[in-house]
Amino acid sequence: MTTCKLLFAAIAIAGLAASQTVSAADAGGKIIAAQCNGCHGFEGASKGAVPALKGKPAIYLSESMKEFKSDKRKGTIMNRIAKGYSDNELDNVAKYYSGLK
Ligand code: HEC
Repeated sequence: MTTCKLLFAAIAIAGLAASQTVSAADAGGKIIAAQCNGCHGFEGASKGAVPALKGKPAIYLSESMKEFKSDKRKGTIMNRIAKGYSDNELDNVAKYYSGLK
């Protein structure tokens, strides 16, 4: 019983620590962006062939992602990637990148 309670407490503390690594305002966006930076560059500031995302208007980024998701806009890889996220997550990651200076 005691071991069980201790284990539960440890899991609860670990969860709390993980959720506090980013501020509440950009939590979703920052976590998602970690999966985009490999191609789009650190903080989305790509200087290569993949377009940069950093500082672009949030509305442009989120609309682009939704167009990839619905195949309205054709890309090489983004159509598949965009389908993996909810519209809310696309809005979050768009806000995150647009807010980077
Ligand atoms: C495997 C590499 C790769 C990953 C991972 C990736 N992208 Fe892309 N992204 C591209 C490429 C390449 C393009 C150019 C369009 C195309 O060919 O699909 C692009 C285009 C875009 C565009 C359009 C930019 C513009 O200026 O028109 C947006 C927005 C975008 N990506 C957002 C994201 C987000 C958000 C993520 C993370 C969820 C992400 N991408 C993950 C490779 C990637």
